[in-house]
Amino acid sequence: MNIALFASGSGSNVKNIIDYFNQDLEVNVKLVISNKSAAGALIHAENSGIKTKVFSYHEINSIFPIIEVFKENDIELVVLAGFLLKIPAELIKEFNGDIINLHPSLLPKYGGKGMYGNNVHKAVIEAGESHTGITIHYVNEQYDEGEIIAQFSTAVSDNETTETLLGKIKTLEKDHFPATINKIIKQKSL
Ligand code: GRF
Repeated sequence: MNIALFASGSGSNVKNIIDYFNQDLEVNVKLVISNKSAAGALIHAENSGIKTKVFSYHEINSIFPIIEVFKENDIELVVLAGFLLKIPAELIKEFNGDIINLHPSLLPKYGGKGMYGNNVHKAVIEAGESHTGITIHYVNEQYDEGEIIAQFSTAVSDNETTETLLGKIKTLEKDHFPATINKIIKQKSL
């Protein structure tokens, strides 16, 4: 199973996924795609000898360069790991249910446009939530609204800051995102 990761940021999740599947003979992280040439995610990929590609906003929206690169690399599953652009509807159709996203809240709470990174954690703390967490879900045409695959939660303490909450979320992501991707792949290959 060849997978492609999409990322715009520092790429801690890209690194976790690469490390998790490093010794796996059946799952191959084949490609890391970004819309930002300075994304840390690309450095993690290069350090592990994984092919990288940077596509502009326009290239992503025209979808053909992506489809081409997917064909060349025989990509069977796409994982969004901190990718900030909306995936075009045509690409979702083309990939028919095989695109997965990670969101740092318990969706449907704190999802949608503008809800990423610290914006999410700030909103959770300001609303006085007792719990938050991560959601792994399929991607559909609406931001953060696709079918939920798995959710994992953590408590929000009284003196929580966006920094401490970010740390808790990163831990959940490390503990559960690669393992959940693995589960999905194993179910697909049955
Ligand atoms: C993660 O918190 C993920 O939940 C969200 O974007 C963040 C990306 O972080 N979708 P990183 O670039 O993987 O460190």
